[in-house]
Amino acid sequence: MIDPEVYYTRPIALRNPIVFYEGHLPAFSVIALIKRGLGRPGVDDRMEKLFERGIDPDSVDAAVPRSGADTLWPSRDAVLDYGARVDAAIVDALSTAAFDLVGTTHRAMRQGEAIFTALEHEAMHQETLLYMWHRLPFARKIAPAAPRYELGPVPAPARVEIPAGTATLGAARDAIPFGWDNEFGEQRVSVAAFAIDVHSVTNAAFLEFIDAGGYSNRDLWSESGWAWIREERVSHPAFWMHDGGRWYWRGMFEAVPLPESWPVYVSSDEAAAFARWRGCRLPTEAEYHRAAFGTPSGAEREFPWGNEPPDASRGNFDFASWEPVPAGARPAGTSAWGVHDLVGNGWEWTSSLFGPLPGFEPMTSYPEYSAEFFDGQHDVMKGASPATARDLVRRSFRNWFRPNYPYVYAKFRTAAS
Ligand SMILES: [Fe+2]
Repeated sequence: MIDPEVYYTRPIALRNPIVFYEGHLPAFSVIALIKRGLGRPGVDDRMEKLFERGIDPDSVDAAVPRSGADTLWPSRDAVLDYGARVDAAIVDALSTAAFDLVGTTHRAMRQGEAIFTALEHEAMHQETLLYMWHRLPFARKIAPAAPRYELGPVPAPARVEIPAGTATLGAARDAIPFGWDNEFGEQRVSVAAFAIDVHSVTNAAFLEFIDAGGYSNRDLWSESGWAWIREERVSHPAFWMHDGGRWYWRGMFEAVPLPESWPVYVSSDEAAAFARWRGCRLPTEAEYHRAAFGTPSGAEREFPWGNEPPDASRGNFDFASWEPVPAGARPAGTSAWGVHDLVGNGWEWTSSLFGPLPGFEPMTSYPEYSAEFFDGQHDVMKGASPATARDLVRRSFRNWFRPNYPYVYAKFRTAAS
C-alpha cells in the first residue's frame, strides 16, 4: 500500500519510522511469548533489542528511538528475514510447547496470557500503522480499490438526560478470557445524573468553532493546550486541509470536500476547547460507561446495543472503512439511552486521566504496557475507530494518549452536569 521510498521516514515525527513497526511486531511476539511465556531463548538478540518498544515523547525534539539517536535501521530484507525466522519460531512454539496455563513455572502464560498479548498487540499496531499512513503524501500510497465514501445528512443536535446510577469500570480477572493489565479489576462507580450528546461532534459543528475564532481564544484552552497550539501553530484539526478557500478532509488516499456529517477527529485539547466554547465539558470515563453500557433498569450491557457480538451493523470498526461514516449512520449500535456511535467511527475522548483500577497488577508478559503511562499526562479514550480490530471491541478495553496528540482516529461528544 505504501511506496518503498517512505519505509525509513517518520510520517509522524513523534513516532519511530515505519521500518520500526515491521520489526517491532515479530520482536514483541518473541519477547512476550517465547522469552517471557516459555522461558526459552529469543531468536535474534540484536533485533529484539532494537525493536523492543516504541516511543511516546512529549515533543518532537525528544523523539529519539529507545535504541539510540543514531539508530541505523536494518535493510528491509533483513527485517523481513527476521520476521520469517520469528514466524517459524512462533509456529513451532504453538505446535510443540507444553504450555503451563496455570502459570506455575511461567506466570506470563497463565490463562494463555502471552499468546493473547502477542495477538492483540499486533492488532493494535495495525491501527497505529493506518493512522501513521494517513499522514503520508497521497502520491506515496496505492489504494487497494477505488475508495468510496459514505456521506449523509448532518444529524440534528440532541442531548439525552441520563439519571444517576452505577457504572462498572474494568472487569473481574476471571470474567473475560483476556484483558490488558489496565482493564483489571472491576470497579463500581456511582455516577451523578448528567446530560450527553446523542451524536458525536461533527465537522459541521466544529467548523462553527473555527469560524468563531476558537483557536485564537485563549480562554477556551488549558494552559498546556494553549502552549501546544501556539508552538505548533495549530489552527484546525490535523484531519482537515485548507485549499483555495475551501476545507477538505485529509482522507487516506485523497482530499475529500469536508464531509459535514462525519465526526471531527481531534486531539483531547481541541475537544476540551470546543466543549468549553459550548459551555460544557467532555464526559468522564465513568459517564462514558454509563451512557454506553447502562440501562434504565440498572442492568449493564456488554456492548451499547446489548450482549450480541460486534458486527458491521453495530458500528464502523474492524477495518470496515478507511474513513469515518456520518454520525448516526449505524443505528443498530445505539445504546439503551439512544446515544449513537459510542463504539466505532472513532475513539471517544474522555476527561479522565489514565490510571490504574483497584488491584492493578502489571502483566508478566508485558509489564511496561500501562504502568509507564500512569503519569497524569495521558487521557483515556474509549470505544473503537474504523481501524480497531473487532477482537479489541470489549467493554473493559481502554486506550490512552497525550491530550495534544492529534493524529489518532478520535472523536468526542460533550456532556453537562
Ligand atoms: Fe508496541
